[in-house]
Amino acid sequence: MVTNTTIEALLNRRSIRAFKNESIDADTIDALESVAQHAASSQYLNDWSAIRIKDQALKDRMAAIGGQPYIATAPLLYVFVADEHRNAMIAEAKGVSTQPEEYGLASSYRFTQAHNDAVLALHAMETAAYSLGLGCVILGSLLNDVDGLVEALHLPQYTYPVLGLAIGKPDQDPAVKPRMPRALQFFDNTYPADDAAKAAMQSEIADFDATVHQYYDLRQADRPVDAFSDQIAHLAAQQMDEAHQVLPHAHAQGFRL
Ligand SMILES: Cc1cc2nc3c(=O)[nH]c(=O)nc-3n(C[C@H](O)[C@H](O)[C@H](O)COP(=O)(O)O)c2cc1C
Repeated sequence: MVTNTTIEALLNRRSIRAFKNESIDADTIDALESVAQHAASSQYLNDWSAIRIKDQALKDRMAAIGGQPYIATAPLLYVFVADEHRNAMIAEAKGVSTQPEEYGLASSYRFTQAHNDAVLALHAMETAAYSLGLGCVILGSLLNDVDGLVEALHLPQYTYPVLGLAIGKPDQDPAVKPRMPRALQFFDNTYPADDAAKAAMQSEIADFDATVHQYYDLRQADRPVDAFSDQIAHLAAQQMDEAHQVLPHAHAQGFRL
């Protein structure tokens, strides 16, 4: 396998959930934000934005929404949003109607593509942060309370929160979490879903279960994590509650899904 410093940074990436109480300098922030802006953007719509959460009371609110206290301690905290609000403003100035039933960028297609754009920007920022020796954790937990997030960040019509990103100097050194054998995730030409392929996959998964079960998560340092297939079965048996339904929240924000 070839390697370089970028590949090394990516291969050693692991979520960091404890940060030193040290601020991040302006030049570093400049680099992180510039990198995010250079991510690819579907149809060049640049349809994402990021809110810097600087106010400590607001960080505390984010931690409460996410149910994860370390969110409040992040020296840098961003919430990335899918953003067709700015584009509505631009289109309106050119005389285009942006009423919900007419606005072309409020479509379900743009909703998903704007999410993709936001995720790519966030990931570019995350990678740059690791390459500089910083640590990050991506925060889906902020979507536990979309209404609360929309209200706290004053997210206007045609925006939708995608993910948070907490960044700081690492104050922990977790092991890199195992990844599944490549044969389970990369396929040639077509998806191998027949019985023979399934049997081969189950055997690989059994090996991966054993590997994962040797990993210790620093959040539960007293015991190894559950086998991969037990984690999947546990989550697969849970029903999503009302708060996690996307459709009503997306409609409330003006998107036509
Ligand atoms: C979309 C997404 C949402 C995530 N949300 C959270 C979160 O809310 N809190 C958290 O502590 N980790 C979160 N994570 C981090 C994952 O738990 C982590 O990436 C995964 O367990 C693999 O571990 P690693 O990042 O150390 O390789 C999230 C990751 C992704 C990609």
